[in-house]
Amino acid sequence: MSTTTLLHIDASPRGERSHSRKLGREFVAAWQAAHADGRVIARDLGHNPPPFVTEAWVEGAFTPPAGHSAAAQAEIRISDQFVDELLAADELVIAAPIYNFGLPAALKAWVDQIVRIGRTVGMGAGGFEGLARGKKVHVIVASGSDFRPTGAYGAYNFFEPHLRGILGFIGITDVQFVYAHSLNDGNPLREQSLAEARTALKSLVAA
Ligand SMILES: Cc1cc2nc3c(=O)[nH]c(=O)nc-3n(C[C@H](O)[C@H](O)[C@H](O)COP(=O)(O)O)c2cc1C
Repeated sequence: MSTTTLLHIDASPRGERSHSRKLGREFVAAWQAAHADGRVIARDLGHNPPPFVTEAWVEGAFTPPAGHSAAAQAEIRISDQFVDELLAADELVIAAPIYNFGLPAALKAWVDQIVRIGRTVGMGAGGFEGLARGKKVHVIVASGSDFRPTGAYGAYNFFEPHLRGILGFIGITDVQFVYAHSLNDGNPLREQSLAEARTALKSLVAA
């Protein structure tokens, strides 16, 4: 039987103060307890953001390898590492803050590295088709206000539709979101929200 692999992504630039990191660590500990011989790949985007797409990257991603400049080779090698980690995983846990209604820049930079024609997206008879099928993704979202889709700021939540859209584009449709919301200092809902997020994450490990 092959080993189950979890890709653990952190996207907060904060350290010990980060709620998403704390919840992500707890999820991973529970996942490891449930998968005795499971393998975890850690990818810390918050502390080591991926490079942005450059002209050399575009050359590397969209032209035949034989003609690649040294710069294109170097840039695409980095992208390949991100893609290899993603494709090696059976499950992903992505722990991230909402920044300005959407994905923090480090997570968006990762998205730009892993959406790759020929690796995670193919061209079928009917157009684009996702190649990263069969994976399960858990997304832990931390926000200062209530950005749950049904929450007071739900109409401004561009994080979930964006990430769901991107994951669907590469073939991943089994995606669960857990919200730790209302985390701003002094918000009376904060502790309850964190407790509910912990309970939801535990049930995702068990599922
Ligand atoms: C640059 C920046 C932008 C933010 N934008 C939002 C926002 O749009 N909506 C929101 O509810 N909270 C926002 N926040 C608050 C964070 O989402 C909140 O502090 C969250 O806990 C951060 O995640 P972390 O604890 O894992 O670092 C923002 C914080 C920062 C620093």
